[in-house]
Amino acid sequence: MPQSFTPEKNSNIVILTGAGTSQESGLETFRDPDGIWSKVRIEDVATPEAFAKDPDAVHDFYNMRRARHRVATANPNPAHLALARLEAQWVGEVTVITQNVDLLHESGGTQNLIHMHGVHSKARCNHCQYIVEWQGDMSTADVCDGCSCAGGLRPHVVWFGETPLELDRIQGALLECDLFLSIGTSGNVYPAAGFVSVVQQVGRAHTVELNLEPSLGADKFDEGRYGPATAIVPAYVDHLLESL
Ligand code: APR
Repeated sequence: MPQSFTPEKNSNIVILTGAGTSQESGLETFRDPDGIWSKVRIEDVATPEAFAKDPDAVHDFYNMRRARHRVATANPNPAHLALARLEAQWVGEVTVITQNVDLLHESGGTQNLIHMHGVHSKARCNHCQYIVEWQGDMSTADVCDGCSCAGGLRPHVVWFGETPLELDRIQGALLECDLFLSIGTSGNVYPAAGFVSVVQQVGRAHTVELNLEPSLGADKFDEGRYGPATAIVPAYVDHLLESL
């Protein structure tokens, strides 16, 4: 591993993760050549308008994805495990902000975790905003426990055109960040793609991209590590922990 920036022991680390982090656990990414958005159109399945127009088609898409994620959740890969190890051993605060709707960070042991795009394993009611754990298929016939109405339950995921979750908590972590890592994300989707610029405006954080290849925003980072997440993330975590 080449020489690299070493943060202070009690510094705060913020880690943004994307679909590339879970790829080696068997989950598809979105924008790679064989990714999800090469097979279905965003506007058909991942917008509030799509759900209003054809809820059955949207449910079919998410039922398929939820089933795959349920299986994969048992299989955190060495990148997820390394991030949990970093959180457990680092002296300062480690915050993982994930765009992923799988539960692989949790099953890998990460605790201080923000699911900014929601999770597959919950449903939310469009009528009353009630949120409930959801493991199986979902349909327009399902009745909400909160308001007893059918037809309002939808996946608790953030669609295009909707506001990501927990932005205040994210903003707080970014403002206090000393080392910012972006792992397995293509940098296409905002606001996540803009977090590196936020921490750079604050002016105190070193920024590192860890990805299979340089992302769209690679030139915004101070440093880049490229290769499969299961190789480069554990190696980078080892480098950080060796400094303790
Ligand atoms: N290791 C590391 N990086 C990888 C790996 C891997 N094994 N496999 C793929 N990658 C990289 C790709 O090169 C790409 O840059 O991960 C990135 C995945 O990018 P996207 O598919 O665009 O996924 P992501 O950035 O998470 O998408 C953001 O878009 O559709 C929405 O809501 C969805 O949360 C998602 C958001």
